[in-house]
Amino acid sequence: MSNGMETVSDIERLRQRIGSWRKAGERIGFVPTMGNLHAGHLALVDAAKGQCERSVVSIFVNSMQFGEGEDFDSYPRTLKEDQHKLEQAGVDLLFAPSGTTIYPQGNQAQTRVEVPELSDILCGASRPGHFVGVATIVCKLFNYVQPDLAVFGEKDYQQLMVIRRMVADLAIPIEIVGLPTVREADGLAKSSRNGYLSVDERKQAPKLYEILNITAESLRSGERNYALLESNGADMLRSAGFKPDYFSIRRAHDLALPGREDQHLVILAAAYMGTTRLIDNLNAA
Ligand code: PAF
Repeated sequence: MSNGMETVSDIERLRQRIGSWRKAGERIGFVPTMGNLHAGHLALVDAAKGQCERSVVSIFVNSMQFGEGEDFDSYPRTLKEDQHKLEQAGVDLLFAPSGTTIYPQGNQAQTRVEVPELSDILCGASRPGHFVGVATIVCKLFNYVQPDLAVFGEKDYQQLMVIRRMVADLAIPIEIVGLPTVREADGLAKSSRNGYLSVDERKQAPKLYEILNITAESLRSGERNYALLESNGADMLRSAGFKPDYFSIRRAHDLALPGREDQHLVILAAAYMGTTRLIDNLNAA
């Protein structure tokens, strides 16, 4: 039951509010975000609300998960609009801390959480340190909020796997829910970074999803020459005006390289359209 959303920026107040709900036996659903909210985030909020009496969202643009030269400074910060959307969605509590609240000693001195191996491939190979930043902030947020359940989008498929592994390995008693990617009418996965695209780039961007679908179709019809499918996928991306970072077919449950007999596969891609790095993925089970 929502009674107007409160925005808090300090941890004490956050814990007070949540503590009173927990005492009353209410379940807490949590959606961590970096803000600039779109329909994809609101689907995560709906899922949290559907399963819990109370919903908490965080907005924190986490410097630790951005590499040098990446878009930390230009990442869209739209707190007012986000607050309005969350209020409309019936969220109970928004946690919007400052950088110094989260990293009082600075990023370098912060204790880190590392999920090895899974964090070093695909996006982790191109963005060294990214998943250490993600795992560290998500672990901290989990400790502040101590939710019963937390919801993440499958658009960030590798991130979701890293978080599931962290939660399993560290025995964090939180249920992790993954939700299917929300897409624009033309198939482009919703993302805060879509806002960086020029009009022409935006027209081309849905080709990423089209190419994933073409590859998924080949896999479904029995093609198992993964190397060929991957190089064809990257070629199609180049022809569509992308600069591919990776185009990779992996086992869906652990992102390992698949064998011929594997049935549950996921195709993951990251590619630049102009200066904007887009990612997407598609299950091809
Ligand atoms: O997916 C995101 O928005 C971020 O990576 C997350 C999970 C909020 C951690 O900063």
